[in-house]
Amino acid sequence: MQDLEGKVAVVTGAGSGIGEGIARAAAASGMKVVVADIDLAKAQAVASSLGEQAMACRVDVSSLTSVEAMRDAALERFGSVHLLCNNAGVWIGAMMHDADIKDWQYLINVNLYGVIHGVKAFLPLLVEQGEGHIVNTASMGGLISGPPEGLYTTTKFAVVGLSEALVMEVADKGVGVSVLCPGLVNTNLITQSFAVRPDELDSGIDHQQPAPDVANGISPLVVGEQVMDAVRDGSFYVITHDEYRDIIAMRHDGILDALDAHAKRYGSTSGRVL
Ligand SMILES: NC(=O)c1ccc[n+]([C@@H]2O[C@H](COP(=O)([O-])OP(=O)(O)OC[C@H]3O[C@@H](n4cnc5c(N)ncnc54)[C@H](O)[C@@H]3O)[C@@H](O)[C@H]2O)c1
Repeated sequence: MQDLEGKVAVVTGAGSGIGEGIARAAAASGMKVVVADIDLAKAQAVASSLGEQAMACRVDVSSLTSVEAMRDAALERFGSVHLLCNNAGVWIGAMMHDADIKDWQYLINVNLYGVIHGVKAFLPLLVEQGEGHIVNTASMGGLISGPPEGLYTTTKFAVVGLSEALVMEVADKGVGVSVLCPGLVNTNLITQSFAVRPDELDSGIDHQQPAPDVANGISPLVVGEQVMDAVRDGSFYVITHDEYRDIIAMRHDGILDALDAHAKRYGSTSGRVL
């Protein structure tokens, strides 16, 4: 989607961090922006700093009803939507052996269902207008995994998988898809994930340590600009950090080695139908 001037972006989790960076970059590209967040005060602060071209909206992405209400509010104010950034997300650094089921539910509800609800509520609209773009925020933790990130990477691998299928599904429908996989970004992720956690999904376990050192991460504004470049170019993977190359290669080599070992031991299956 090359010409962004006057078009409409909806960004979830835009009251802080990467979402705020995307919202600011979208506004700088001439887009009207719905700054959506579960923390309305933060969304309002960002929206008011962007002026008339932005509106604040409270949304809880773990609720389909709430995401549909956000879509309807965006349509009522701006008349259409062209770019949806399913960015809201939360983090818990739990080890799986002592994680509570509520820890799993919290991360899956926000990080995975949040993206699913965005796709469910907005995709028919974008397909019908034959123009649009969806950006799903995953993580470098959607490409590589390791403790104590097991719960988090479960949700982020799912977002990558969803996005890989989606980009193929809508390729001929005028709708682009990108998946954002950042390394460390300097945001409020660690503190805000605990501040907005609903009481009914509070396991009472303090999973804040050891937390990733996000304060040493790159600027969310830089990430926002890279996301807008991807929307313009139609790039699928948005990889903001290159220092994970060796670990990603190691993971992929392990899979290819297993394929070779299988073929050597049991013979090739190529030519057979799945
Ligand atoms: N910061 C990093 O290093 C990093 C790295 C990779 C991926 N990410 C991902 O980036 C995304 C944005 O996180 P961030 O780092 O900017 O953190 P952040 O906490 O600064 O911003 C996330 C925003 O999402 C909002 N939010 C949380 N739950 C919500 C819900 N249920 N509904 C609507 N809004 C909700 C929060 O209030 C917050 O304003 C997340 O998906 C996160 O997993 C972050």
